[in-house]
Amino acid sequence: MDNARFGVCDNVLAAIGQTPMVRLHRIGDGTHQFFGKVEFFNPGGSVKDRIALAIIEDFEKKGQLKPGGTIVEATSGNTGVGLGLVALLKGYKCVFVMPEKISEEKRAVLRAYGARVVMTPTGLEPDDPNSHYSVAARIVKETPGAVLANQYHNPANPLVHYRSTGPEIWKQMQGEIDVFVGGMGTGGTLSGVGRYLKEQAKAAGREVKNVCADPYGSILFDLFYHKEVRDPAHSYLVEGIGEDMLPENVHFDVLDDFVRVDDKESFAATRELAQKEGLLCGPSCGAALAAAVKYSKTLKKPSKIVVMLPDGGRSYLSKAFNDEWLKANKLI
Ligand SMILES: Cc1ncc(COP(=O)(O)O)c(C=O)c1O
Repeated sequence: MDNARFGVCDNVLAAIGQTPMVRLHRIGDGTHQFFGKVEFFNPGGSVKDRIALAIIEDFEKKGQLKPGGTIVEATSGNTGVGLGLVALLKGYKCVFVMPEKISEEKRAVLRAYGARVVMTPTGLEPDDPNSHYSVAARIVKETPGAVLANQYHNPANPLVHYRSTGPEIWKQMQGEIDVFVGGMGTGGTLSGVGRYLKEQAKAAGREVKNVCADPYGSILFDLFYHKEVRDPAHSYLVEGIGEDMLPENVHFDVLDDFVRVDDKESFAATRELAQKEGLLCGPSCGAALAAAVKYSKTLKKPSKIVVMLPDGGRSYLSKAFNDEWLKANKLI
């Protein structure tokens, strides 16, 4: 757990992880203490740098990725940036497939790392032959020496959070954490961090609650509480969290509660993070914060609540921080 950032990094990959935990002084009514794990400090700008490095090194270890090989992924942008960054430094090619709703800024970043970007229509069923999942799988089949990063189902994803993000959080909080809140896209972050925190808390004779912030329109809430989909999936504007299928990296056994959040409260909390705390973060951070504040109102005693903040706000300047766009989408 030495922090490479304070010496000379051999290359930028050594600067992945060891992100700050920041106290959020102006969030809530003062009953509870809120903290943010600020992942935009990673070199690619998001939490996904961690899984990109872990997934690629896992393929290398297993001999499945050879020099000059290609990494393919169905990604909403951040995982692509992480994979693009790692691939660039290790000499691999990248192809990324994503739905059209993803912001142009995110696509431009991927191209800047030399990756190929393939767009698919938004809102298709995962098994539709034109969904971003199906198209990515087809490209792997047709490209010699290609691997699918497969962030939704690859166990290297939650494992790196269990081995790095979780221990960082536990250490930064000196074991004093009552609630951990984050969104689930692949599920990797919450499943890996959540499992580590549960184990450490149990060994320390205390309890930690892992809470998922789930957008209205995602089916995860229903699957967790009812084991069936009651509200069919529909689209929403927060990017990166909530699902229309159940990824293998969503480990319900380490979760305690789900809190639903709508676009309006998620975008409002995103702006609050920037304006009150100086943290220019993405909308999934706002969703996690909105869920954390809602959840805190159900707590009986003053608690320490850590909120996962997966990425920065610069990729969303034309959306979350643009009044015209917010008005057009009835968010303000
Ligand atoms: C912006 C953003 N926030 C949150 C997440 C969710 O993280 P995880 O995939 O580990 O559940 C993602 C993942 O796609 C993301 O891109």
